Amino acid sequence: MALSIHPLTGGLGAVVDHDLGEAGDDPTLSPALAEALHRHRLLVFPRQHLNHADLLVASANFGAVDTDVDRRYAVGGFPGITTVSNIVEGGTPAGIYDGDDEVEWHADNSFKPRLTRATLLYSVITPELGGQTRFADSTRAYTDLPAELKERIEGLRAIHSIQRLAALQTQASGGQSSAAAGSLASRPEVEHPLVQTHPVTGARSILLGSMVIRGIVGLAEKDTNRLLDDLLERVTSTPYVYTHRWSQGDLVVWDNLAILHTASPCDSSRHHRLLYRTSVH
Ligand code: SIN
Repeated sequence: MALSIHPLTGGLGAVVDHDLGEAGDDPTLSPALAEALHRHRLLVFPRQHLNHADLLVASANFGAVDTDVDRRYAVGGFPGITTVSNIVEGGTPAGIYDGDDEVEWHADNSFKPRLTRATLLYSVITPELGGQTRFADSTRAYTDLPAELKERIEGLRAIHSIQRLAALQTQASGGQSSAAAGSLASRPEVEHPLVQTHPVTGARSILLGSMVIRGIVGLAEKDTNRLLDDLLERVTSTPYVYTHRWSQGDLVVWDNLAILHTASPCDSSRHHRLLYRTSVH
């Protein structure tokens, strides 16, 4: 299938004019979408009209939906869909949201032994102000690293800890964060290479997580912090960042093995934000 794809200026991402909700069983759609995702690392599908079932069908184009999600915000009857929201109903958060807390650059599910390959985020209620999602092209940033820094980080392994993530999110939000771990909290730490090699494209990228990484194997805490701060500053510097300002009906899909992302602050007392998320293997 020939998709209508318009690359965004800046080198990360593309807009795709395609209605993912429309019925159709074209077997070439899924490979075409996957090829576009691997090429552009992030795809924006504007003006979608997806119910929960449609979102699962759209997600299946990119891989097998991960159903191992935080049970607090799982959408009943639609395994793998998580509510992402700052809305609080009767004192209970409607969804997971860390956007009012400290900026937390991350790749989704890095606290699991196997990262999910892609994330889909579908916007239903958009705030008038704030609540954008920023994406950092850690693939291009890795390519641009000085050779000696590439050499220094080659082979290093980072320890990802959901307990650390939960503790820091709770601390940053004064105990108010709806994000902090929930039913996923009891997992053991996992190690991932700091430099990832993409299983499809072979491109290399840096896997960071401002709150989830507890340390680097064999490095002292001081050296770890200095190195991670330096890498994060490089990867999230302006030339590598795309900021998505949500419109209702946007579906954004990103290659979770190639880029990092973070939610931007939004004044939850004034602006509501509601999205639905899936991750795929
Ligand atoms: C996420 O971290 O997957 C959600 C990002 C967002 O809420 O903008």
